Amino acid sequence: MKPKLVVGNWKMNKSFDDAQDLIIDIQDALKDKKLQTEVILCPPFVYMELLTDIAEEEDSQFYAGAQNCSEHESGAYTGEISAEMLASMGVEFCIVGHSERRKYFGEDNHTIAQKINLLLKNDVVPIVCCGEQLEERKNGQHTEVVKKQIEESLFHLKPSEFERVIIAYEPVWAIGTGETATPAQTQEMHAFIRSLIEKKYGTEMAYNTYILYGGSCNAKNAVDLFMQQDVDGGLIGGASLKAADFVSIIEAGETVIKDN
Ligand code: 13P
Repeated sequence: MKPKLVVGNWKMNKSFDDAQDLIIDIQDALKDKKLQTEVILCPPFVYMELLTDIAEEEDSQFYAGAQNCSEHESGAYTGEISAEMLASMGVEFCIVGHSERRKYFGEDNHTIAQKINLLLKNDVVPIVCCGEQLEERKNGQHTEVVKKQIEESLFHLKPSEFERVIIAYEPVWAIGTGETATPAQTQEMHAFIRSLIEKKYGTEMAYNTYILYGGSCNAKNAVDLFMQQDVDGGLIGGASLKAADFVSIIEAGETVIKDN
């Protein structure tokens, strides 16, 4: 098994002071641990410098990530943040195509592909989200939906580009609902995604690609999810907002790796 990767997506939460406290609490809790698990924190843009300042320190245990970027390169796009700006601040990762952005901001696979291209151009690693709605799962369309999302947003990439991408499977019905996909459902979808990558880019690329699970992942269920062969870690929303919960999920990653 590869070492796990745990990503905290804070979404639109926390005041400046609370954000600062959370970063310091996580940093303190992880300080003397020799972690194999990699950790990325994705705060709102306005708090990014709090994070990059610490993430650049030598003994830092985490990397800085953003939650979104513009599909445009630069110019008259009031309120937007470009991939180039993120890179210039030391941000190394960026979530794209989150279901909340698809739903509330009308992002489609084409927009997401544009964002991925710009992130890669600026050496920022895209964390690309995919996942089906509840109705789609009930109708047995979940694999088809995810296949289309992956093919349309990612499969135009050259192998040298695709190898820098992280994928996150987040079933929409599991996000913020407390209803987690079962370990078996998760493994099935992750194995399916890996098989798509294998067909397109070959076995080695399929093995090496990180595929994270997101959707009500917490301290209690993380070990069972992370134990699945094709689950390389988690994209964590609500449980990343409390240092103790988030650190427990990171420890779940450590436990699974030590036992395998
Ligand atoms: P929750 O962990 O709150 O369900 O959110 C998952 C998510 O959307 C992470 O991007």
